[in-house]
This record gives sequence, C-alpha cells and structure tokens, in this order.
Amino acid sequence: MERSLAAALELALERLALSPSPRSDAEELLTRLLGLARPELTLRRARPLSEEEWGRLGQWLARRASGEPVQYITGRAAFRHLDLMVTRDVLIPRPETEGLVEAVLEVLSAQAARCPAPRVLDLGTGSGAIALAVASEWPPAIVTATDRSVEALAVARANAEALGLGARVRWLAGDWFEPLPPDEKFEVVVSNPPYIATREWDELPDDVRRFEPHQALFAGPGGLDALLEIVDQSPRHLVAGGLLALELAERRAEEVAGWLEGARDWEGVVLRDDLAGRPRHLLARRQGGPAIAPAQWGEER
Ligand SMILES: C[S@@+](CC[C@H](N)C(=O)[O-])C[C@H]1O[C@@H](n2cnc3c(N)ncnc32)[C@H](O)[C@@H]1O
Repeated sequence: MERSLAAALELALERLALSPSPRSDAEELLTRLLGLARPELTLRRARPLSEEEWGRLGQWLARRASGEPVQYITGRAAFRHLDLMVTRDVLIPRPETEGLVEAVLEVLSAQAARCPAPRVLDLGTGSGAIALAVASEWPPAIVTATDRSVEALAVARANAEALGLGARVRWLAGDWFEPLPPDEKFEVVVSNPPYIATREWDELPDDVRRFEPHQALFAGPGGLDALLEIVDQSPRHLVAGGLLALELAERRAEEVAGWLEGARDWEGVVLRDDLAGRPRHLLARRQGGPAIAPAQWGEER
C-alpha cells in the first residue's frame, strides 16, 4: 500500500467525511503529526509516511471520527499568535476569547503613558491563553493568573516555560481572588469564566459535553454563579479607574451589564461584539480616580 502524504490526506478525508469540517481537520491532523506547515501538504505530496506515522494517523482519525476535538488529539491549540499545549484538563481556547485579549490590549496601549507597568490578573486561566497572550503581546505587563484546577495550572505553567514566558506570569491555585493577598490591586482584571447554565446541557454540542472539563463550562443552574462572584469581588482588587473585562454568554450579556450599570462601583460599562456580531465581552471601569479605560468607552473623569 502506498503511504505517501497524498494517500494519507485522501484516507483522512474519507474517514472524516461525516465530521463537520473534514478538510480542515484532516489538514490540521496531518500537519501536526508530521511537523509540517500547511503549504507543505501540497508541496510535499510524495513524502512517504513511516509505519509509525501511518499507524498514529489511523488512531488519530478514529478518535476524530468518534467526535473528539482535533486539539485534544494533537494536544495543541492556536491562540492569537501562540501555539499552546492543551489536555483534557483545560478548555480549548476559543477565537472569541482572542477578542477579549484584543480589548485588554487596546486599553493597555491607550493608557501606556499613564500606566507603564500595568498589573493584569487573569481569573480562571485554564491553558494560560489570556495571561500568556497578554504577557507576550504587552511586555511591560505584570501578569498574575489563578485557577481552581491544579491540573489546568500545570498545563498553563508548561505553556509558559515552552514559550519562554516562565518568568512573566505568577500562577496561583485557588478560587478566583482567594489566593491573592486581600488588598492586592490590579489595573486590569480579565476573565473568561464558566458561564453555561447546567440546564443548558442539552443545547451544548456533543464534543463539548463529552470532552471538555465541566468545571470550565458550567456555572450553576442559571450560568451566573462565577460571574456574580467575580463582579462582586473585583472592586476590592481593582485600582480606581481599573478595567474589568469579562467574556459571557450572549443570552445573559444584557443582564450582567445591568448589574454594573448604575451601581456605585462601576462606570463606562459597555458590551462589545465578537467577530460574529454577538455581544460577548463586557468592559467596565472601577469608579473614581484616573481612568485606565480609553475615552471612547464614555467620558473620562
Ligand atoms: C471557560 S474556562 C477559561 C479558560 C481560559 N481562560 C480560556 O479562556 O481559554 C474557565 C476556567 O475557570 C476555572 N474555574 C472554574 N471555577 C473556578 C473557581 N471557582 N476559581 C478559579 N477558577 C475556576 C476552570 O478550571 C477553567 O480553567
């Protein structure tokens, strides 16, 4: 039997015919398996696969055909310009969360003169995606990240080391703000917390339900438990004018924004859309003091 790259691609497309995205899955599996860049799949069509590579491809295709996400099979996920390790202890970082990082970076950039070494806290860091993207894209940032899952933190730490960012992020195990000194303050608190309601279980895609860690997904019967806790405790850990940046579910975005609008602690509350035009990110400033948020979010004091 021919074991060329071209034959491997053909086999993969055939085995994954019923999966939602056969070509991109087949290409991702093959590039990861063989350590190639995408264009090389075409340029090196005649490259032979070893027996070991061919065997592993067969196992990977069987796993993908049974519904397992490509990222857990290859153990890798792209996030912004980072290539991260992922295991089933961490959520697969999502494209919409890249937009949350973008929002934070916009603020850090707009306030660079006023705040040259901003302290940034990422709550529920998982693979470390947000913390590491901020650390690598905004070198002056002083980054802290927490997660309740020690297994997730081990993945985040390994990612930091692999990316040469080991000295840039402080990793703390525990519930949201709990591992921090009680009065430690930050210019930015950012989080993509669990926000799915347990009653929405049936609406979730099968691969999410079966493979992603439930403690990364669910936040009580109404999906609001984690957000409530974070919004409640953030004022204590934000400097006056500091930024709170949260990812949330589209269907509850207005409700969560409503908690902050008009509340004593908050001003400049806005919802921002993701690339699909859905309101997924909430940004707000802690009242009082010089603002770290940019003027376009509302009048600065
Ligand atoms: C939706 S995932 C986000 C992971 C990562 N920040 C990302 O955007 O890809 C939520 C994370 O919050 C963590 N988490 C859940 N409950 C927590 C709690 N009470 N305290 C701290 N972290 C928690 C989970 O372990 C998980 O890693």
